[in-house]
Amino acid sequence: MRSALLGASRSERLRHTVERIPLTRNVVARYVAGSEQSDAVRVAGELAGEGLAVTIDHLGEPTHDRAHATRIAQTYVALLEALRKAELTPDVEVSVPLSAVGQTLPADGAAIALENAQQICQAAADAGTTVTLDMEDHTTTDATLDVLRELRADFPSVGAVLQAQLKRTESDCRDLAHEGSRVRLCKGAYDEPETVAFRDRGEVDRSYVRCMKVLFAGAGYPMIATHDARLVEIAGSLAARHRREQGSYEYQMLYGLRSREQLRLVRAGERVRVYVPYGPEWYAYLVRRLAERPANLGFLLRSVASS
Ligand code: FDA
Repeated sequence: MRSALLGASRSERLRHTVERIPLTRNVVARYVAGSEQSDAVRVAGELAGEGLAVTIDHLGEPTHDRAHATRIAQTYVALLEALRKAELTPDVEVSVPLSAVGQTLPADGAAIALENAQQICQAAADAGTTVTLDMEDHTTTDATLDVLRELRADFPSVGAVLQAQLKRTESDCRDLAHEGSRVRLCKGAYDEPETVAFRDRGEVDRSYVRCMKVLFAGAGYPMIATHDARLVEIAGSLAARHRREQGSYEYQMLYGLRSREQLRLVRAGERVRVYVPYGPEWYAYLVRRLAERPANLGFLLRSVASS
């Protein structure tokens, strides 16, 4: 089912049908702030009012044209300016998928993505906040970590995502568990081959625990991005074992998932950041969320039927 849904996330025909459903009337609104920048800023403000930190992601497909990559970078720059004006920084940062700002372009993709990411990082610094680089499928991991290294030379607070489902990640955690390094650890949302990834859920969870042990033992800033209650509990134990103060690490969850748990952690004094996606191109993101929880598919199918 997961593979079929992840395949559907790449289907143009399905995307066309599903994207015609108005955002507010269906399951999409549960996971996505809305189509416009103002929706993202409004939702970030609401979450900040509840004591939650936020990271905002502009949803988009990998770009195949340089002008489009530049427009996406400008979208982030404008978003950061709006967040500054709304006085939502520094507690609201942005998450950037490098494929949206040029990484997959055939000629000079890496250089174009770096240039665009530098502009976004500069705008974030001007707004008093920072950037975390999303991680996409395993073919992009090295290129993304290369861009991270380059960005950190000028913007040392830039963070990256590592995916516990990849066999290489424990070693990447070791490389990145240093002073000032922000690592968002997630399980991984892509359907990866077993040559590079653990395919069994139990194996992914065990890898996640090994990675957390490395991050909590290190000198960096672990960002524990999961809704898995067991892993959240283990993170708490590791924080205690390493005498980490609250605020020297954080929990992260997606907008619309386990909202009560997010607030419970905040009330317990923990730092919790909500990942808020927005933008008109929400289809692939939504289907990846459904792939994690096929039970939610029923909501979407009912929305399609009634639209
Ligand atoms: P898991 O999927 O095992 O879920 C654990 C429990 O959480 C479930 O039993 C259920 O209770 C609840 N749950 C999970 N998904 C649900 C859903 N859709 N609906 C309802 N309940 C649900 N991935 C990636 O490849 N690259 C990236 O850059 C990022 N970035 C990122 C940032 C942040 C802040 C988060 C939280 C996640 C990501 N991810 C990601 C996604 C991540 O890889 C993973 O796919 C999801 O977080 C789901 O995995 P869990 O760790 O929650 O565990």
